[in-house]
Amino acid sequence: MDIFEKIKNNRGPLGQHAKSVHGYFTFPKLEGEIGNRMIFRGKEKLIWSLNNYLGLANHPEVRRVDAEASAQYGLAAPMGARMMSGNSSAHEQLERELSAFVKREDTFLLNYGYQGIISAIDALLDRHDVVIYDSESHACIIDGVRLHQGKRYTFMHNDIDNLEKQLKRAQNILDDTTGGILVITEGVFGMSGDQGKLKEIIELKKKYNFRLLIDDAHGFGTMGPTGAGTDEHQGVQEGVDIYFSTFAKSMASIGAFISGSEQLMEYLRYNMRSQIFAKALPMPLVIGGLKRLELLRTESSLRDKLWTIVNALQNGLRERGFNLGKTNTAVTPIFLSGTLGEATNLIMDLRENYDIFCSIVVYPVIPRGQIMLRLIPTAAHTMEDVQHTLDSFSEVAAKLAEKKYEYASVLEV
Ligand SMILES: Cc1ncc(COP(=O)(O)O)c(C=O)c1O
Repeated sequence: MDIFEKIKNNRGPLGQHAKSVHGYFTFPKLEGEIGNRMIFRGKEKLIWSLNNYLGLANHPEVRRVDAEASAQYGLAAPMGARMMSGNSSAHEQLERELSAFVKREDTFLLNYGYQGIISAIDALLDRHDVVIYDSESHACIIDGVRLHQGKRYTFMHNDIDNLEKQLKRAQNILDDTTGGILVITEGVFGMSGDQGKLKEIIELKKKYNFRLLIDDAHGFGTMGPTGAGTDEHQGVQEGVDIYFSTFAKSMASIGAFISGSEQLMEYLRYNMRSQIFAKALPMPLVIGGLKRLELLRTESSLRDKLWTIVNALQNGLRERGFNLGKTNTAVTPIFLSGTLGEATNLIMDLRENYDIFCSIVVYPVIPRGQIMLRLIPTAAHTMEDVQHTLDSFSEVAAKLAEKKYEYASVLEV
């Protein structure tokens, strides 16, 4: 079979809808300055889809430093991988500052979070080891685990008894080998907004010998008294052996980092294939990263503003009877019951008639028959934005209950 013939008929779970949804539900173009209001198809919309938690994307200081660093260095410098010819004092300074902030001995910068965590899992484990990970882990964790040649077990999402069961299984097969156990979970789960039960997981270290890696993409900058992350929020930084986050969310940039002991970071620097065989982060991203980290650390008013908006939005939605699931973070899911067709009609109504742009999540990411809308509040939003959203959601939820979205949809399945 010609593989091009095959993909003509099997376009993938999302790709099968590409013709009818491209440019609207998928690959939409949000234009203008990044913020609470942007232009979608020529008209201003209130945007709840960007992980720009602290509003740093368009902070004047960030924009100035990004521009100056780009003018000074361009995007080429430094050339080559860090190990060969692409190291710089700025890269090392950002690593030192991140280490101090997340209270770890050392840090290694990564070009992208997705590739970075895959490569970190790959570098850490050999075929004798067992990896155990939360069933709702982000794709980058799942793809990293796929590279692992030894045993891999999943534990049911945030189910500590089930994790213990997997730890027992792992320990039983490890008795005959020289392997160890790596447990992986997230600080904040980016879809449902609940937190990984880090404290309870770390408690299990008293009975089982394992190391813990967390992906805190949504927690870094938003959680904890200083914004250092979900492990700081839960008071368990010492129990998290490997801390990972991306620059793609609170830091509003590109890149990522991984932090832990000095020995571990030296090992990763010399063994992570995503960094050894790829060009280093460009200078403007690193210098811009230093400025973002400084603001994230020193401007606690940005985090206060974020949480004012989060609380107003989530309390308002809950008071109106919406089901927000288990979120106890900034991530704001809204669960509704309905078909995929109704969900797409509801979203179009919100976009076209209420000028609200938010993301929709459907099966297979969540169970069939459920609709999940996901809103990301940020420090760039206003209380007027929240009020307009609450009023609009009350109206569309009433229409959904009255079956007003049952007309034919672009996405009928
Ligand atoms: C939980 C989680 N991990 C990792 C990533 C990947 O990070 P990056 O965008 O830097 O590749 C994301 C998305 O950005 C994420 O949500």
